[in-house]
Amino acid sequence: MAEIGTDILKAKTLLEAGELVAIPTETVYGLAGNALNASAVTRIFEVKDRPQFDPLIVHVPDIRKAGSYVTDIPEKARLLAEHFWPGPLTLLLKKKSIIPDLVTSGLDTVGIRCPDHALTLALLTSLSFPLAAPSANPFGYVSPTRPEHVDEQLGDKIHYILDGGNCEVGIESTIVGFENDDAIVYRMGGLSIEAIEETIGKVKIETHSTSNPKSPGQLKSHYAPAKKVFIGKIEELLQQYPAHHAGLLTFQEDFNSPYQFILSPGGTLEEAAQNLFIALRAFEKMEIDVILAELVPDIGIGRAINDRLRRAAATADR
Ligand code: TXA
Ligand code: MG
Repeated sequence: MAEIGTDILKAKTLLEAGELVAIPTETVYGLAGNALNASAVTRIFEVKDRPQFDPLIVHVPDIRKAGSYVTDIPEKARLLAEHFWPGPLTLLLKKKSIIPDLVTSGLDTVGIRCPDHALTLALLTSLSFPLAAPSANPFGYVSPTRPEHVDEQLGDKIHYILDGGNCEVGIESTIVGFENDDAIVYRMGGLSIEAIEETIGKVKIETHSTSNPKSPGQLKSHYAPAKKVFIGKIEELLQQYPAHHAGLLTFQEDFNSPYQFILSPGGTLEEAAQNLFIALRAFEKMEIDVILAELVPDIGIGRAINDRLRRAAATADR
């Protein structure tokens, strides 16, 4: 069990000593260490059991600081950062050599983001280095959106979890890279495509997994709950899997089942996103053997929710 508390000074002291601390962000909890300290970064990969080919996101307190770690900020990237930082947006930018190759898995770009959470922004401002922080879950699991989620899975490997309450967005950041004059979205996330396009015009979307994904978060089965997930119309799925003890994951509809989770009784996509990973975790503890899920409207943050649901379902093919 790790200690859970709101002591920023304690978090700072541990991080300065090269230790890891779980930190809250508006998206999901991160497992943070000094991004400029190779041994702290190595420890992040060990604690998460994460393959070293999967690069980490570096967290900074503001755009000015981001400039210390990247060689150049293209115009579209600057516009996005000005509009949406602090917020659920990660920019892939050419790195300076001060960022260890280990952080970026040898790539020449670094994923950089300014998170929108008061405690973590205060912590970042107080530090003389940026924080490398992947989601604070073992590799391949659903991301944590509450301090208890982190404690359950990593509590015996870290000393301190900075308690920032429940994550307000609940789904990871949107990842955007730049090639020539194009902006390319590599991961759907908390910032909607619509909002991005309003700011910089049309973007390309390359979130599909390939045999050699640029971003391992694109792996089809990356967001894998232990139980099989099937997507479709709930009534039809129930007829297809009658012999199964099924958990039902709906957007708004109530099936009066003890094994159901309604993502948003009020019917908002923001609430559905906040609840998605909480629901998938709740199902892990239920006496069910499959999860039958329906997609949500494919607009705004709904696209990121549907992306995670499809990836969770992709493991059913294995
Ligand atoms: O919301 C978030 O982004 C959270 C919070 C803690 O900030 N972090 C997060 O980190 O989701 P992680 O490590 O679970 O996912 C980061 C994704 C990975 O899929 C990784 O492959 C991709 O970002 N990534 C990081 N740096 C990259 C780079 N230079 N090029 C391509 N993909 C990169
Ligand atoms: Mg992750």
